[in-house]
Amino acid sequence: MAQLPSTQHWKSGQLYPAAAYITCLISILCSGTALGAIQGVCYDCHTMHNSQDNAAMTFDGSAAPNNNLTRGNCYGCHAQGGTSPTVNLGTDIMPQVMHSGATDLAGGNFGYITGLKGSGAADNKGHNIGDLTGTDGVLYGPPGGIRQFGHDTGGNVNTDNLTCAGTNGCHGYRLPGSGYPDGVTGAHHNNVDGQLDQANTPAESYRFLMGVKGFESSDWQENPSAASHNEYFGLLAPVQLGCGGAAELSCHGTGGVQPPDGTMSQFCATCHGNFHTLQSATSDGVGAVASSPFIRHPTDLALPSSGEYAAYTVYSLQAPIARITVPAAAGSSVTPGSDVVMCLSCHVAHASDYPSMLRWDYSTMIAGNAGAAAATGCFVCHTTKD
Ligand code: HEC
Ligand code: HEC
Ligand code: HEC
Ligand code: HEC
Ligand code: HEC
Repeated sequence: MAQLPSTQHWKSGQLYPAAAYITCLISILCSGTALGAIQGVCYDCHTMHNSQDNAAMTFDGSAAPNNNLTRGNCYGCHAQGGTSPTVNLGTDIMPQVMHSGATDLAGGNFGYITGLKGSGAADNKGHNIGDLTGTDGVLYGPPGGIRQFGHDTGGNVNTDNLTCAGTNGCHGYRLPGSGYPDGVTGAHHNNVDGQLDQANTPAESYRFLMGVKGFESSDWQENPSAASHNEYFGLLAPVQLGCGGAAELSCHGTGGVQPPDGTMSQFCATCHGNFHTLQSATSDGVGAVASSPFIRHPTDLALPSSGEYAAYTVYSLQAPIARITVPAAAGSSVTPGSDVVMCLSCHVAHASDYPSMLRWDYSTMIAGNAGAAAATGCFVCHTTKD
């Protein structure tokens, strides 16, 4: 695992600029508050030749240089496997997606897959990223990939090529095109925080997920509560996704593969389309129309304002909902009738300690046992089934 250096990498004979000491001090005083776009000295993160005194400048000492002249790859900065969900690098704070600390950030923790954290290693606890966790021993292609152009048969993104960013990943531009590169290049220095309702570039998309809208909690949800959390974007009712059939919205647009309406659930559907789309020529989806009875659990659908759903009124981190307009701040209330069930109501994005990457242990969701698990998991919305 690539580890970060201390400033000792700067040999004693070298002048370490006073400004850097001051900014480090400020960052210690301010730690816990994430900053927006990158602010630190270049050499914290970049190396021009990957060579100083004829030794490698990469954080793990490897001879191989990285894209954009960074001193580590995505894992070297974001998956250090340490004990904390964030790591300071000069003035900047790097969110960690693989660590053994008590608190996970919103995306979860790839360490559950490897057993670094949690009840034991298991591939079904999350998205296996080959280089980081090893490939998934059971799943090859994404379950629910739409049966078209090989989306379900290994023609596209599979466990043997799934990665952080770019064409076979989730962050940044996916599929290079004229006028933009593949992956996150350009995103870090232009990172926009808070309310993201444009999503025209990775930098102004939710967590660099090209085309996804939302509101970013400034500490990546390190200390979440009903009033302090990320906000996700959703639709009142799901639409037909596809590759260009009549009435179908395509996931291929200007800027590569992305959710056509900018919702988090459509983002997941770019790989797991069958689990989200309304019935189309190539998918039976959640059903022909956006009303009960469904054939798969709906997403991008408003909670009904009547019946058991009407009782979900205080935001629960057990089952987050999405909003139909991108909020400018986190909200602590839930409004059935307009707030929306989404993929991340039940799943996390990277990995969790539970099978199928769920937020909770599905085996504890037992109907009619006098509320033993009331207000958790499924029961946050299905309030009368406990
Ligand atoms: C805290 C880490 C960090 C610091 C400090 C930093 N960078 Fe970067 N920079 C990155 C990362 C990560 C990338 C690659 C991914 C990306 O482009 O978003 C990058 C990409 C770049 C790129 C290519 C993409 C673009 O936006 O143009 C340039 C040029 C660049 N950095 C220049 C600089 C310069 C010059 C400095 C110092 C004034 C600096 N960086 C300081 C992390 C850093
Ligand atoms: C040299 C260290 C470095 C490297 C390499 C690096 N990052 Fe980052 N990354 C940072 C820092 C620092 C931040 C926090 C500052 C910010 O939000 O721009 C960050 C933030 C992020 C965020 C959160 C953005 C947000 O909206 O809050 C994402 C997502 C991300 N990086 C993805 C990646 C991916 C994917 C790669 C590999 C292609 C990568 N990073 C490589 C240092 C790095
Ligand atoms: C770039 C394509 C891609 C995107 C986007 C994507 N997935 Fe996946 N997903 C995969 C692949 C490939 C697998 C199978 C390999 C694996 O499980 O590691 C998978 C597996 C899964 C699994 C099963 C995990 C297991 O091992 O049992 C779940 C649950 C899942 N995805 C949910 C989601 C959710 C929720 C989102 C949106 C936040 C999402 N996926 C976005 C490609 C993707
Ligand atoms: C964030 C809220 C939310 C959570 C959490 C949730 N559901 Fe649902 N569920 C809904 C909504 C909304 C509907 C559709 C209601 C409607 O329009 O009839 C639904 C419908 C259903 C249906 C009926 C489908 C039909 O054909 O009418 C079942 C069964 C169901 N959910 C089971 C579950 C189970 C099991 C869990 C936990 C694994 C769960 N739900 C978690 C919101 C949720
Ligand atoms: C209501 C809760 C709920 C919602 C919402 C939900 N899932 Fe799931 N998901 C589950 C459960 C529970 C399982 C375990 C398998 C099952 O019960 O069908 C699962 C399993 C999966 C799997 C693994 C399937 C396999 O073959 O191993 C994938 C992939 C997946 N979900 C993706 C998604 C995507 C993408 C979305 C949004 C479009 C989504 N889920 C929305 C509860 C949910």
